[in-house]
Amino acid sequence: MNGIVITTIKNQDEIEFLRGRQSFEYTYNDETIDSLKKHFDPENSLYLLAKKGSEFAAFCSIDRGWWEENIFFIREILVDQNFQKLGIGEKLMQKCIEYAKSKGTIGVVTETDFKNKPMQGLCKKLGFKEWNNPQWKNGIAYRLIF
Ligand SMILES: CC(C)(COP(=O)(O)OP(=O)(O)OC[C@H]1O[C@@H](n2cnc3c(N)ncnc32)[C@H](O)[C@@H]1OP(=O)(O)O)[C@@H](O)C(=O)NCCC(=O)NCCS
Repeated sequence: MNGIVITTIKNQDEIEFLRGRQSFEYTYNDETIDSLKKHFDPENSLYLLAKKGSEFAAFCSIDRGWWEENIFFIREILVDQNFQKLGIGEKLMQKCIEYAKSKGTIGVVTETDFKNKPMQGLCKKLGFKEWNNPQWKNGIAYRLIF
């Protein structure tokens, strides 16, 4: 994490910086950027950007756009391939979890692909449990109840 600076995105225009960022098969395309803009809410979301100098390192976001009362959703996490396995993903997720706690929520949820072993490992390390989401069967849903 040497030289990595984590900042909070403060307005919707800054989200544009993420367009086209990618890691493995994940790319922040039009759909992702639109979704991030839609769920951006200075009062009830946290968008974290990690950079080394001007270089993009990682992004992670949490918001309240979830169908269950009092649960926040970790919508996006992406660590650039040059910065993986350094603990950045874990740090950003922890900050999002702390944010959800500070808002008085009862827990957080996230989702990932069946084949996304790095994300599955990260969720398990942070204490998330697999959860049978009745509304989504296209991957693994993870839940962390405080
Ligand atoms: C998943 C991802 C965010 C992890 O970020 P990271 O910064 O490299 O992860 P960290 O260094 O913080 O690792 C924390 C833990 O995650 C797990 N993990 C990370 N990379 C892993 C890998 N390649 N294989 C298995 N587990 C892995 C481990 O449990 C690790 O703990 P450890 O180092 O003590 O073993 C990153 O691989 C990524 O951006 N992937 C592409 C985008 C993506 O898949 N996003 C999620 C979409 S749902």
